[in-house]
Amino acid sequence: MLETDKLLGRTKKSFGYEWLRYPTTLGEEENRTFFDMVGLTEEAFKNKFVLDAGCGMGRYARITAKFASSVVAFDLSRSVERIKDIINSPSKIYPLQANIMALPFKNGIFDIVFSVGVIQHTASPKEAFKKLACLLKSGGIMSIHVYVKKLKSIEELKQTTLEKDKRILLDNIEKNFFKKIKFELYLKLRFLRTEIIKTLRNVSTKVPERILYFLSFLAIPKIGRFTLLNFSIPCSSHPNIKVRILETFDWYSPPYLWLFQEQELISWFKEQGFYSIEVSAHGFSPVSVTVKGIKK
Ligand SMILES: C[S@@+](CC[C@H](N)C(=O)[O-])C[C@H]1O[C@@H](n2cnc3c(N)ncnc32)[C@H](O)[C@@H]1O
Repeated sequence: MLETDKLLGRTKKSFGYEWLRYPTTLGEEENRTFFDMVGLTEEAFKNKFVLDAGCGMGRYARITAKFASSVVAFDLSRSVERIKDIINSPSKIYPLQANIMALPFKNGIFDIVFSVGVIQHTASPKEAFKKLACLLKSGGIMSIHVYVKKLKSIEELKQTTLEKDKRILLDNIEKNFFKKIKFELYLKLRFLRTEIIKTLRNVSTKVPERILYFLSFLAIPKIGRFTLLNFSIPCSSHPNIKVRILETFDWYSPPYLWLFQEQELISWFKEQGFYSIEVSAHGFSPVSVTVKGIKK
């Protein structure tokens, strides 16, 4: 078996494992974060033909189906089997288990294609991006959310051209808990954390899913906002125990985990003929970005 086939198999099994165990009782959290994450309003989805690329258990397809005319939601893993458990507009969602690199759709048919945290887990994110871009109609909108490679320092944040993001981020840094010196320390700790995760992933991505899942239970004990494990090994501190275990598993199990530079993504959009390209940042400094654009 080719190495890439082996890794694709691991990605499929790993996410299947994760999503088949994810709680069905989805909170308001998903609703709140979704529109911010894709950088689109409810209005933008009204009566549109939408593709949720790499939908997981369909938590975002569920939200868009309230507004869209129909939503095709595909994922590589068996996670799509769970869509029926969480949806309230069953007739509007079309779930499909498929690989982003070999999709069974005609080109130029969707009004909106969005993808949250997916292309970073593929062998070739740029190829995955191109495959999705082809599926959009002319005038259609693409929105891609991924993690960024390098956190920005205060100096870089001040230079950003995105006025809204700059204001929000700098306000948070100054008002909340970061004075400049603390912010620099925070950046160093975040960097260290990323390096620790990267190193541990050299081993963890080879550990059988079942064992890794049980190891993720170490993320349960908490002191206040912090998990006990976090003082040595980075792990999720999500308030819901089940989600915390699964998020921790998610950090260490999938074989591919690419991080991106904003500029790299913007150039992909330009190469595929998108215009009105916008970037929005999420989290302090920020940790992830969404790039969206309109297809020529
Ligand atoms: C971090 S999860 C995000 C799921 C969903 N977008 C969400 O935010 O709830 C990444 C998803 O990408 C899917 N994925 C990874 N590689 C894929 C591929 N080649 N084709 C389709 N889906 C893929 C995984 O199976 C997984 O469900």
